[in-house]
Amino acid sequence: MPPADRWWRLGLRARVTATFGLGALVLSATMACLTYLTARQFILHQRETSIIRQAYDNASLLRSTLPTTDASQIPQLLDSFDTGGARSVLEQNGVWHTAYSASFFRQEQIPLGLRTMVLAGRPAEQHFLLNGSPELAVGVPVPSLGAHYFEVFSLLEEAKTLRILALALAGAALVTTVVGAVIGRWASGRLLRPLGAVAQAAETIAGGRLDTRLTASDDPDLSRLTGSFNRMTDALQERIEREARFSSDVSHELRSPLTTLATALDVLEASAEELPDRPRQALRLLGDELRRFQHMVADLLEISRADTGATDLSLEEVEVGELVHQLAASGGTRGVPVRVDPRVGELRLWVDKRRIERVVANLIGNAAQYAGGATEVAAEAIPGQPDRVRLVVTDRGPGVGEEERQLIFERFYRGAAAGRRGATDGAGLGLSLVAEHVRLHGGDVWVEDAAGGGSRFVVELPAHRRGDATVPALQAAR
Ligand SMILES: Nc1ncnc2c1ncn2[C@@H]1O[C@H](COP(=O)(O)OP(=O)(O)OP(=O)(O)O)[C@@H](O)[C@H]1O
Ligand SMILES: [Mg+2]
Repeated sequence: MPPADRWWRLGLRARVTATFGLGALVLSATMACLTYLTARQFILHQRETSIIRQAYDNASLLRSTLPTTDASQIPQLLDSFDTGGARSVLEQNGVWHTAYSASFFRQEQIPLGLRTMVLAGRPAEQHFLLNGSPELAVGVPVPSLGAHYFEVFSLLEEAKTLRILALALAGAALVTTVVGAVIGRWASGRLLRPLGAVAQAAETIAGGRLDTRLTASDDPDLSRLTGSFNRMTDALQERIEREARFSSDVSHELRSPLTTLATALDVLEASAEELPDRPRQALRLLGDELRRFQHMVADLLEISRADTGATDLSLEEVEVGELVHQLAASGGTRGVPVRVDPRVGELRLWVDKRRIERVVANLIGNAAQYAGGATEVAAEAIPGQPDRVRLVVTDRGPGVGEEERQLIFERFYRGAAAGRRGATDGAGLGLSLVAEHVRLHGGDVWVEDAAGGGSRFVVELPAHRRGDATVPALQAAR
């Protein structure tokens, strides 16, 4: 990946943090370098000036004292000068004298260039390294005595000071960089917070709460964003509601002519025996199609009611075991074996019984239609989740392919199993209604493979023990 692409992939927050950190690094490194160079210049220049002045003072002192000093006394004489720790060396008529205190020092250690220049009669100074440590040598000719005076100073202290300064400045630059990055992270976090609110609102809207809006902001930059976001959701909500109202109205309007047709058909069917074969067959076909149509319109009406938010749940509290047995007794399970896990039998649910009955009846109807009938209706426990319970309808049919498991819960989707049975069976609305009812209860529904082949349609619902109030939670979930 090219570096530019990698940079854009980092994410806004990381990029702002990196930019702040980098900016702080460049600034603090530049400041540190400038400070170091200025300090170095200042410290070395000051020291050099004082060293040279002192060497000249000592040379002029020599001019008055040397003529009266015996050659053997010269090391003591040199020691009596104030040299500030320098090693002093004197050359006179080709003989080299070193101060007693610097007797270890050899004149050869003075750089040759400097020696030659001073011996040729020109004063000079030179920086050099002696055994790795920085030194400054100053040479002053004293022509009246035929002598040449040298002082060699160690600059080790200054070098140490400068090293400490460099370390301190590098540390400061590092701290500044980190502080810069932290400020960048904090600032970008603050900047992105409104975006987080927008994302949150968008997710809530996507989850079905169309009335979600952002709170207005005083900030002129943000108020534009919140304003246009809220206007967009207003438009979206209005449009969705209009469409839902439309299909609700259409289904509603279709109901009465269908009822009239059905009544008329009943009359005709009552005297079907008297009809010849072909009209009787046609009448039966007409009857089947009409009932299918009525069933579809009823489903459509129910779905569009859910879309317009016109659904009212009439919740009642029931025990799981009792509910499942009631479902069986009401004919909803049509003689399918029922099993209730003893761990959940006493749990309680807040349900709209009519809807749950339709859910189970729909699943059993589908099993009968596509899978040769349901083999079991069960209430199961979920390990580790005592506040939920599963109602499971199992069959031994062809099962639902991985790629269809989401799709079959969509409206008008008819799957592979339906295709095998011919096109006239259903409208593909049953499972979407199931999903709608389950969602209204704060639950979940999905299909998975049954252990011995076939499918398991699982409806998971929130449950509670006797005395726990779960209704508020359920209402919050809606
Ligand atoms: N138990 C099952 N086994 C295999 N496939 C199934 C089963 N139940 C449903 N399906 C598949 O899921 C599809 C959607 O089912 P859904 O109940 O939503 O619609 P439908 O039964 O085709 O029509 P409707 O229920 O509106 O009369 C079906 O067409 C079928 O392909
Ligand atoms: Mg169906």
